[in-house]
Amino acid sequence: MHNGGGQERIDKQHQQGKLTARERISLLLDEGSFQEIGGLVEHRSTNFGLDKQKFPGDGVITGYGTVHGRLVYVYSQDFTVLGGSLSETHAAKICRIMDMALKNGAPIIGMNDSGGARIQEGVVSLSGYADIFFRNTRASGTIPQLSLIMGPCAGGAVYSPALTDFIFMVEETSYMFVTGPNVVKTVTHEEVTSEDLGGAKTHAEKSGVNHFTAANDVECIRKARDLITFLPQNANEEAPLTPVFEYQASKFKQIDQILPDNANVPYDIKRVIDCLIDDNSFREVHEDFAKNIVVGFARLEGRTVGIIANQPAALAGVLDIDASRKGARFVRFCDSFNIPLLVLEDVPGFLPGTDQEWRGIITHGAKLLYAFAEATVPKITVITRKAYGGAYCVMNSRSLGADLTFAWPTAEIAVMGAKGAAEIIFKREISAAENPAEKWLEKEAEYADTFANPYRAAERGIVDEVLLPSETRAALISGFAISRARSAKGKCANFIYVGRRWKA
Ligand code: HXC
Repeated sequence: MHNGGGQERIDKQHQQGKLTARERISLLLDEGSFQEIGGLVEHRSTNFGLDKQKFPGDGVITGYGTVHGRLVYVYSQDFTVLGGSLSETHAAKICRIMDMALKNGAPIIGMNDSGGARIQEGVVSLSGYADIFFRNTRASGTIPQLSLIMGPCAGGAVYSPALTDFIFMVEETSYMFVTGPNVVKTVTHEEVTSEDLGGAKTHAEKSGVNHFTAANDVECIRKARDLITFLPQNANEEAPLTPVFEYQASKFKQIDQILPDNANVPYDIKRVIDCLIDDNSFREVHEDFAKNIVVGFARLEGRTVGIIANQPAALAGVLDIDASRKGARFVRFCDSFNIPLLVLEDVPGFLPGTDQEWRGIITHGAKLLYAFAEATVPKITVITRKAYGGAYCVMNSRSLGADLTFAWPTAEIAVMGAKGAAEIIFKREISAAENPAEKWLEKEAEYADTFANPYRAAERGIVDEVLLPSETRAALISGFAISRARSAKGKCANFIYVGRRWKA
């Protein structure tokens, strides 16, 4: 019963550097915790000699078990059985496990390794995919859904993972595309390999489809187990507390040294993140995509927070279409699953240009704005340096509902940079001056003195407090602790009902 499609096909799977479906499950789940469901299910098709090719389980292993002691539901497609192809019964098994996960409020983890719809079965197989998509959509925002792509995933089959929260891909052995290289060649005359078209690297860097890349199956599964420790079981629960954490005191000193004296010199926001959070607790999501924004999970005194940070070291931290999409998706996930948001802001504005405008930066930028404004989880913003223009508003500003807004003394909160501002508002004075260049510099300095600091905003109460970098961790911990009390939505008397949700 546990021999899949037979030893020969298992050997082929291993030769390709892939584990079998059962080996993957045993690595994913805590030892001895797997309870299989539907292990004896067989397909009912008699088309094209299929009645002579029956395998217990019909190409997918389904069941439940624990990851670090917490319940998860799992399915793992078995490529050694008819290429892991999805039949009517194969789909029904996946649906059953999804229904159980939703009913019992636990994450679902799918391991995909399949040649797609079972060609011999025709429309019932396609219909099976749609049954899965329906459930992915219904489960979205209610239980965490993880997809581990560990082999082929092509055609409409890609849309189940796309509907889930996080996609993991294995380098060289996995690929995802709507149409494969042969169809691409016929239609567009482009010659491209499967790896270039839809491999892990392509989707991590170019499309953003892939959130986490792994060198092999073992690493992929290890990363998924690790991610689960940051997430709650479902949308009604909080992420688990990690009672034991460490914080190196030397980081208090380091953080005061990170920002360069010159505001135009880049720095790595990940160094700031590292100095604020519990040691080694940052798990970056979408590491290789839209590097001008950094998103990921971390822990503050053992509690999960979601971090969204502009990255001055990539495109000066500007917001563009990809950064907006990446940020918005992450914020919405955190909001769905009661994960507080920490925003680190150093943003010079939105990326200008025809490419961005014609591809809809207006619509995509609005997604990030919408996500922050809609989020009812505790939200704290720390302005480290630039907070300019519309991007200031978008990045979880006070008016979008930030619970607390802190600024470092280096913060510059203004409609735009001093140079551009001086050029516009002192245009006449500059052109009438004996030495226009000198005048421009003088006016630029005047504007910078007025606005290139956090104090005007603090006077107006738009910034709650100006903090030293080294004071920030403590302020975040106490800030999140206070606002956590209201996370139990609707329980606080001070809540007002805005739209369809409770807001503080
Ligand atoms: C039935 C399939 C199958 C499929 C593979 N097999 N795909 N059986 N339906 N879709 C079987 C093969 O017959 C073979 O059986 C075994 O799986 C292994 O396949 P190989 O071709 O030997 O493996 P490999 O060389 O590694 O190539 C893997 C592959 C290729 C690239 C995935 O098998 C392939 O191109 N398959 C068809 C892919 C496809 O077009 N699927 C439909 C896509 S459309 P034996 O008995 O020899 O071991 C789709 C629509 C979804 O999925 C719509 C959702 C809305």
